[in-house]
Amino acid sequence: MLRSIRNALHRKRNCELRHGNIKRFFGQPAAQTHPHLLQEGEVTPGISRAEFCYRRQRLMEAIWKTKLHRKSVANHIALFPSACKSYMTHDIPYPFRQNTDFLYLSGFQEPDSLLMLHSIPGKSSNSFKSVLFVPKRDPDKELWDGPRSGVEGAVDLTGVDEAYNIHELEHYLQCYCRDTDSFAVWYDYIRPCHNDLHNRVLAQFLTQNRHTAMETTNQLVQALRLIKSPAEVALMKRSCEIASEAFQSVMQFSCPGVNESQLYAKVDFECRMRSAEFLAYPPVIAGGDRANIIHYINNNQIIHAGELVLMDAGCELHGYSSDITRTWPVSGQFSAVQRLLYEAVLAVQESCIQQCTTQNSLDDIFFHMLDKLGHQLKTIGLIPQNSNKDSRLRAARQFCPHHLGHYLGMDVHDTAGISRQTKLQPGMVVTVEPGIYIPASTTTVPAEFRGIGIRIEDDVLITDSGQTVLTEKCPKHPDDVEAMVRS
Ligand code: GLY
Ligand code: MN
Ligand code: MN
Repeated sequence: MLRSIRNALHRKRNCELRHGNIKRFFGQPAAQTHPHLLQEGEVTPGISRAEFCYRRQRLMEAIWKTKLHRKSVANHIALFPSACKSYMTHDIPYPFRQNTDFLYLSGFQEPDSLLMLHSIPGKSSNSFKSVLFVPKRDPDKELWDGPRSGVEGAVDLTGVDEAYNIHELEHYLQCYCRDTDSFAVWYDYIRPCHNDLHNRVLAQFLTQNRHTAMETTNQLVQALRLIKSPAEVALMKRSCEIASEAFQSVMQFSCPGVNESQLYAKVDFECRMRSAEFLAYPPVIAGGDRANIIHYINNNQIIHAGELVLMDAGCELHGYSSDITRTWPVSGQFSAVQRLLYEAVLAVQESCIQQCTTQNSLDDIFFHMLDKLGHQLKTIGLIPQNSNKDSRLRAARQFCPHHLGHYLGMDVHDTAGISRQTKLQPGMVVTVEPGIYIPASTTTVPAEFRGIGIRIEDDVLITDSGQTVLTEKCPKHPDDVEAMVRS
């Protein structure tokens, strides 16, 4: 009875919302409040309620396929806490970024929340309920921090079956235990992403209760996130396009005497002007020898005439990341030695992109990269002409101490738990980013090569017929790069 009244009220409210009779704010952009960002039926820009529902369904199907389910346990409860707010100093928050797995499964953007997926005791094993626990609506807090979606808003927005205030989590878990004889808990207890929820509620639940088994979730969710859906591919394409256009503008803007910090400001501006929410990571903007510091993020030096600038930057668009590196002459023309090294890296990079097919894994292409790089180093004369295969590979490792690339998606180093020995599959996106780094202190090469660091990085979608370079709008051929800097 109570349920039917609640459903009727819910339908009436939805109808009023649809017809614009009442204005409802959520704790995140929604179609009603941000029609320039989302269409009706989308939870986050570009991703529909149906897709989020399908992701949850597939996660439960993955659980039902595990040995644990087939052999012994019929009931499962999976717990996905959100991220928590963190502060740089008193009352001053860091920009909030949602926990990726929680976002992937719920689309909910508020901190201090939790998504629970659980089988329904007594029901057939292939049914489950999705429940969101969210921050309680609170006029005092909302005055300072802006609106919260609350319990009703969370259901309207995300399409989960039920929502409750987060402080009801403990009681809900107790009731689940009371009503369920034996069950497995799926939760990333090894690295809890929300310390407070873990310490106050979840750790107790795990130690006191009589669950039959406990498993982590990250491998299951990452296996889903690894293969991008058509809607995700569209967002990845746009994220890559925005970053590529931003690179063009930064190349045009750069000139001798420019400060790395100014190029940082420019790339950030150009990405945000095209709707990206923020840069996907602190960019590397390194003039001259600083390009040889792989994680150089100080970005505070002057770039002088004749030097190269290496920029590694990407943006995050509605939860999807791009990741590009280009190296260009700040004066608009490569020196002979700079061009020689640049063309060597480019030849290796293009050859590696061709290897991005379902025949290969990232590790396979990494070994291809080392092989090609070794040959290039020999051709250039940076290693002896009589170098054998072993010494070529060793030299390649020395001149390029990092891997070929990584999976790319909602996170920059996406699905890091998936082995790089996995054969590529259509729908994966990977980076291809070889480099040659010769710190100024290297005494084993002729002086004119010292102090040069070059990396070229593109984002590549694996398709049924091969691959598509999503960052192809970003100039890469040395003539195109020079022309862009000079334009
Ligand atoms: N920007 C980080 C990376 O290329 O892996
Ligand atoms: Mn990368
Ligand atoms: Mn990068």
